[in-house]
Amino acid sequence: MTILTLGNDLLRQKAEPVKDIDDGSRAIAGEMIEAVHAGTGVGLAGPQVGLMKRIFVVHVGGDVPRVFINPSITATSAETAKYEEGCLSIPGAWADVIRAQAVQIQGWNEKGRPFTMDADGILARVILHEYDHLEGVLFIDRLSVPKRNRLLAKMERQVLARPGK
Ligand code: NI
Repeated sequence: MTILTLGNDLLRQKAEPVKDIDDGSRAIAGEMIEAVHAGTGVGLAGPQVGLMKRIFVVHVGGDVPRVFINPSITATSAETAKYEEGCLSIPGAWADVIRAQAVQIQGWNEKGRPFTMDADGILARVILHEYDHLEGVLFIDRLSVPKRNRLLAKMERQVLARPGK
């Protein structure tokens, strides 16, 4: 799977519901989990690999890999937390992002079974980050404008400093 990076329009589009959870979606979920393991990420959403479907996978340390198909966020805590985030689609960029500390999410797993789960801490953060991808939202959108501009300028300098540029 090729991971699309910032500047690709697909990352800015809203993903469509998965119509049938079948062998095809199971295979895709498996490949997405492999892609997460191959990279340095903790999650991956369909649009990041050009698949405009409402599916994402999450694998945080100490937990099992989890697949979310057609998810909906059913509750978020009023309490927020700040933590440094990165994204496989925005290589080299890291910034503190404020998000709800806990989340309740409903969806279907790769076997087509519905589930509801409550998550907090890092797992909640990764779920919210990946869910954003289904809406065409990136973590840099959740920074203040000056912070985002500073981060983008820094990334541009890094690109310009690479050999061969
Ligand atoms: Ni991401």
